[in-house]
Amino acid sequence: MRLGVNIDHIATLREARRGKLPDPVAAAIAAEMAGADGIVCHLREDRRHIKDKDLFLLKEIVKTHLNLEMAATDEMVSLATEVVPDMVTLVPENREEVTTEGGLDVLSNTDWIEDVVRQLRSHNIVVSLFVDPAIEQIKAAAKLNADYVEIHTGLYANAGDLGDVMDELEKIRSIAMAAAKLGLGVSAGHGLDYHNVRDILDIEQIEELNIGHSIVAKAAMIGMERAVRELLQIIRR
Ligand code: PXP
Repeated sequence: MRLGVNIDHIATLREARRGKLPDPVAAAIAAEMAGADGIVCHLREDRRHIKDKDLFLLKEIVKTHLNLEMAATDEMVSLATEVVPDMVTLVPENREEVTTEGGLDVLSNTDWIEDVVRQLRSHNIVVSLFVDPAIEQIKAAAKLNADYVEIHTGLYANAGDLGDVMDELEKIRSIAMAAAKLGLGVSAGHGLDYHNVRDILDIEQIEELNIGHSIVAKAAMIGMERAVRELLQIIRR
C-alpha cells in the first residue's frame, strides 16, 4: 500500500504567524526522504493553509507523485491545468468547515463533475473523486470516467464504540471491492492515524492511503524534545 503524505497542516502552523516557517515544501522533501510514495496538498478557496506559491513550488520539487486536492470550481480547474499535478482529487468544500466533512455528492452534480473530470484528464491528470463509502457514489464515479475513488474514512475514524467501528470498516471493505470490480483505482483517507490504520491495511483493494493530520501531530511531538534541547544548548552555551 502506498502512502501519500498530506502536508497541509505544516502550512497551517506557518499561517498561525503568517510567516515563512515551517515550510510545507521542506516538509514534502523530508517526507520523500523518509520514503513517502507521494505528497498531497489541498488548495482551498480561502487559501487558509496551502497557497498558490506552495503548489507551484511543490510541482517543481516533488519527485514521487503530487496529488492536489481541490474543489471542482472554474478557478481550481484553471490552476490545476496550469500546474498539472500527477493527480487531482476532487473534494467538496464548505467555507465554514474545519476540515473536509464528507465525500463529494457525485450523484447530484453529475454533469458538472463529468465536465471537470474530462478537462483534467485531457491534460493527462489522473482524476480521483473523494466519496463516502456508498455504492451509488462509486457507481456514479465509474460512469463519469474517474480513474480513482478515494474512500472517505472519516466516519470509521470517528466511530465511538467498537460495533460502529466494525460496521464502518465493513462498509469501507465492501465499497473498496465494488470499486475495484468497476475498474476504479482505490485509495482511502481522512482521520487515519497510527492505530486505526491497522485494520484498513487488510483491505487488499486499497492501493493508497492519504494521511496528514496524525503525521504532523506526531512530528511535532517526537520533535519537541530535540527542539528544546537544541535551543537550551544555544542559551546555556
Ligand atoms: N484525503 C482527503 C480527500 C482529505 O481532504 C484529507 C484532509 O485534507 C485527507 C485525506 C487527510 O486527512 P487527515 O489530515 O485527517 O489525515
